[in-house]
Amino acid sequence: MPKQIAIDGPAGSGKSTVARQIARKLGYLYIDTGALYRAVTLIALRRDNDLNDPTVLADLAGSMPLEVKMKADGQPAYFIAGEEVTDELRSPEVNGKVSEVAQIAAVRKQVTQKLQTLAGRKGIVMDGRDIGTVVLPNAEVKVFLEADLSTRVKRRQQELQSRGFFLPTAAVEEEVRQRDLTDSARSEAPLKRAADAHIIDTTHLSPDAVVDAIIALIKRQKKSTRQKEGDCF
Ligand code: DC
Repeated sequence: MPKQIAIDGPAGSGKSTVARQIARKLGYLYIDTGALYRAVTLIALRRDNDLNDPTVLADLAGSMPLEVKMKADGQPAYFIAGEEVTDELRSPEVNGKVSEVAQIAAVRKQVTQKLQTLAGRKGIVMDGRDIGTVVLPNAEVKVFLEADLSTRVKRRQQELQSRGFFLPTAAVEEEVRQRDLTDSARSEAPLKRAADAHIIDTTHLSPDAVVDAIIALIKRQKKSTRQKEGDCF
């Protein structure tokens, strides 16, 4: 069975919903890697830190007391020093600044180290922007999710509403466009499809259909690994 499943894609492509479901089906650990960049951003905003200061932000990334607990409904809940910050991590303020923080090389180095340490342990599903290219370059299954802009904006807007943030479509679209641009154009680990990733366009697919497509890829990978092992005898 493949141990590492990497799911990358832009904001609103549906990564976290499907990654969580796949992890649940396989009994694997799910890591929403964007939450780490969001937590650094939230703490820095609360402390009024300079968001352009790599030293302060990298220290924060290396030492932040972020904890994740799974709720009864299977959704992750995030805590910083005991305070639940699940909704705040996805607030418009954090959305507006997280790409800036995530482009800092020293921050990425700290976060990547944490993620690679976590991944060493057991079966894992990670979603993000650089999982297949940088964090888990040897992941057995790599997926790159895409969706057209208006669909991604609609998903973001619904997600914000579910957390109590009501923004006009134009504002959400501007934020998603800006984030796409910063995440793709940065020099350090930009949003990019790994050469060996499978592309799935989720524009017209339900989350269940995307989950089924990825599970099929996992099964195919499992079979080809078995065949390769068989070839040795
Ligand atoms: O997936 P998300 O929207 O929660 O990610 C928040 C931001 O974090 C996103 O704008 C880019 C950044 N990010 C990243 O650079 N690398 C990752 N592996 C995950 C997220």
